[in-house]
Amino acid sequence: MQIKSFEEYQSWHKESIESPDTFWAKVAENFEWETKWKKVKSGDFNDINFKWFEGAKLNITVNAIDRHVKKSPHKKAVIFEPNQPTASQEFLTYQQLSDEVCRFSNGLKSLGVQKGDVVCLYMGMTPELLVATLACARIGAIHSVVFGGFSATALSDRINDAKAKILITHDSVFRGTKEINLKDICDEALKTSSVENTIVARRSMKNVNFNVDNDIWWHDLVDKQLTTCAPEIMDAEDPLFILYTSGSTGKPKGLMHSTAGYMVGTTFTFQNVFQTDENSIYWCTADIGWITGHSYLVYAPLISGVTTVMFEGVPTYPDASRFWKVVEKHKITHFYTAPTAIRALEACGIEYTKNVDLGSLKVLGTVGEPINVEAWEWYNENIGKKKCPIVDTWWQTETGAMMISSLAGITKTKPCFATLPLPGVDPVLVDAEGKEIEGNNVEGNLCMKNPWPSQARTIYGDHDRFIATYFSTYKGMYFTGDGCRRDEDGFYRITGRVDDVINVSGHRIGTAEIENAINEHEEVFESAVVGYPHDIKGQGIYAFVISDVSGEQITEKIKKIVTEKIGSLARPEKIQVVKNLPKTRSGKIMRRILRKVAANDYENLGDTSTLLDPKVVEELIEGKL
Ligand code: WT7
Repeated sequence: MQIKSFEEYQSWHKESIESPDTFWAKVAENFEWETKWKKVKSGDFNDINFKWFEGAKLNITVNAIDRHVKKSPHKKAVIFEPNQPTASQEFLTYQQLSDEVCRFSNGLKSLGVQKGDVVCLYMGMTPELLVATLACARIGAIHSVVFGGFSATALSDRINDAKAKILITHDSVFRGTKEINLKDICDEALKTSSVENTIVARRSMKNVNFNVDNDIWWHDLVDKQLTTCAPEIMDAEDPLFILYTSGSTGKPKGLMHSTAGYMVGTTFTFQNVFQTDENSIYWCTADIGWITGHSYLVYAPLISGVTTVMFEGVPTYPDASRFWKVVEKHKITHFYTAPTAIRALEACGIEYTKNVDLGSLKVLGTVGEPINVEAWEWYNENIGKKKCPIVDTWWQTETGAMMISSLAGITKTKPCFATLPLPGVDPVLVDAEGKEIEGNNVEGNLCMKNPWPSQARTIYGDHDRFIATYFSTYKGMYFTGDGCRRDEDGFYRITGRVDDVINVSGHRIGTAEIENAINEHEEVFESAVVGYPHDIKGQGIYAFVISDVSGEQITEKIKKIVTEKIGSLARPEKIQVVKNLPKTRSGKIMRRILRKVAANDYENLGDTSTLLDPKVVEELIEGKL
């Protein structure tokens, strides 16, 4: 079901808001169901128990695999581009994907994995990760993919929180020139968490510690398995996966997504935003460890029956022409990446975009953080050659699918604007008191008025936190945590987070999480972390730390402890040792001031009169890095 004109977009959007049941039933007709739904939508944002397609039964992998195997078994489902460039093509057809997924599904079953069990995946970006993800869905196990850049402590926290039964990993993998010893990290994580078995896939062939009682080689497990496995028939609202993300308090949240609504929402948005067709060769550069990889590398492209490309490496290895050489090699038609990658490649120089044939490209996409005008123009001119529409897609781990985005070639684009809400999405801007800000040319906090099919259903094991985080700030609305402007044409531009979450290279990190890690160091009394503008990463991490020790003696230790507790993605770029933090009389840290100081914006510090000791601000500025 594809929108083909702007008028059609307008009428579909109108219908989706006025008669959501009729609208989404029409969309859902395009999928394969074991049993159809009795009711399309129930629940609202007052009673946080919304459900979609109740009564329906299905398996998402039947939609992603089986129905394409019937029609076009030899079509390429997945193209794999390894870290080390090669001339040859590695791929899986839909038939081969089906065989591999079924074999691994049977392997999981042979270990006793059942519907509803949680399986944790901590792997590099190879086809085994995609196969394992789909195998979980095939047998009704809940996958919890943890990004391979997280530390052993972070992995252990996630395994324990989700009570995962099985862990799947690689021996070690290469990203660029860096080797990541995944199995070693798993061994470390399992000292403080328990799973019954660890399945280890071979990649680097490195020697790893192998515990014969609990560890199983992937190849041994699948060796004897059949290439057919009947799909577990799931209820529409049965959980599909858990994915952890950061919030404004310390502990990461395991967002839980359910089956039918997620399938319908991700696939519908994919086909409409990117305007793909059956010949599309689509490449999303995200890691499967993030929601972008789940929704728009694995599920939506495969359910749509296109060819999805999976890349193991990094944009700058062997050099900054890698992305464009991959585009040329596989004749990519649709390319989806993050602004931080665009800025990093822009900084390497324009010569890397020359002498490569980018003529196959039709549509470009961005996701993960606000894009700046310069990067947008660079992408448009040097990669799209001004003939490819750019879709700037705003959404979140919580939303499951894209929410605000142009439709390629249909919606007018404006640099840096996500533009207009997709069908089913009913955004509002509200002021600090929660009053709706009407009209155009306004700015406020972005909320949603109505549920949509692909939204997360709960935080695993903590529904109260789910309600408190998203539905309590503004009554009867979902609060996104983002600030947003609506311009004179009613187009939306996301301005960034308004809570204590920062976005570093498109990775979302809670400042409280970093502070907790820093505060564990015995030489630290207190700390406060904020984001500051960073040319490449979008935001950098700035830590103000109270300690008796100064200089590299302490900063190196702080970097180390953050890397151990969370991962190098959370390591602060700047660490300023201070005597005091700006606190109100009630002891609350005034982060607004810290953010201004970190950004060198000393002119607009705002009202500092409520500070316990206003002199603190001068000290901060004096010691500024
Ligand atoms: C946060 C969600 C959605 C997949 C990747 C990130 C920011 C996301 C955009 C965009 C401006 C964006 C928001 C959002 N964000 N896309 N196109 N323009 N900001 O998912 O890790 O859940 O982070 O990323 O601040 O709240 P996530």
